[in-house]
Amino acid sequence: MKTPRLIQIAHDDPAAIRAELIAGLTAPTATIAPKYLYDALGSRLFAAITELPEYYLTRTEAAIFAAETGRMAEALGPVATLVDLGAGNCEKAARLFAAFQVRRYVAVDISVGFLRESLELLQQRHPALDLLGIGLDFSQTLQLPAEVGAGPRTLFYPGSSIGNFTPAEALTFLRQARGACQGGALLIGVDLIKSVAMLEAAYDDPLAVTAAFNRNLLRHLNFLAGADFAIADWRHCAFFNSAESRIEMHLEAVRETVVRWEGGERRFAGGERIHTENSYKWRADDFAALLERAGFARLRCWTDSREWFAVFAAFS
Ligand code: AVI
Repeated sequence: MKTPRLIQIAHDDPAAIRAELIAGLTAPTATIAPKYLYDALGSRLFAAITELPEYYLTRTEAAIFAAETGRMAEALGPVATLVDLGAGNCEKAARLFAAFQVRRYVAVDISVGFLRESLELLQQRHPALDLLGIGLDFSQTLQLPAEVGAGPRTLFYPGSSIGNFTPAEALTFLRQARGACQGGALLIGVDLIKSVAMLEAAYDDPLAVTAAFNRNLLRHLNFLAGADFAIADWRHCAFFNSAESRIEMHLEAVRETVVRWEGGERRFAGGERIHTENSYKWRADDFAALLERAGFARLRCWTDSREWFAVFAAFS
């Protein structure tokens, strides 16, 4: 049986991460990049979010794939190399292996530690498949290492993670994705604009799982930046900003509070916020135009009957 190959591309050292976080905390509007939501507990809380009735994204996307995998396979042709960006437990991609005739699967996630177990289990189920795991933070720059191999690749970016980029960042990412697919294609999931009530319920659920996911960021900040956030002093806040077409997540101080770390502090007034995530919602036509601006030449789009979510195949 083959064994998965694992490589870690160097990531920022702890001092650089700490400096980035402190710069974000001391900015006039405190802001922390959403990637810091995902420590071990944060990843589990996100998995729980995907099970919530209000979080329609994961289920709707899965239904589109279940209904359309055959037509997607026809459009893509046999996929020699499938590159899964933000692979996690690799399950979404694994459902496509047979229909897409995948020969080589490359799972990319921020830390290779997240991928080891998933890839070992996957290898048992697919002994002939060539498996490569890459630890890489592609949120700044998407540059795949040579180990991925030559030839066209199909890049797989599901879950509407593209929504966590601003439109300008999304365009940069899509341009890089077009380069990285080397004449192949990009298969990408995008959440679409819908009623404000439905959008806000998906990001502020009655069980408060999303609140826990957001507030857990403070525990992670205490660890990474040596800060002393008291979790009870902060509440989850999520709303749709129609002008920007995005859900915004913030942490709001419930009372005046001072947060300290070695060599610094920040005073937050009651009601003051830390901006922790944007989740942009697209019109399908606008997203198609963005893919074309990024240089993709031919597009296919599949949606569910209520047009809540779209999956695009974009060919370079
Ligand atoms: C990972 N990303 C696409 C999720 C989203 O919907 O923006 C993260 C998330 N934030 C709150 N709930 C889920």
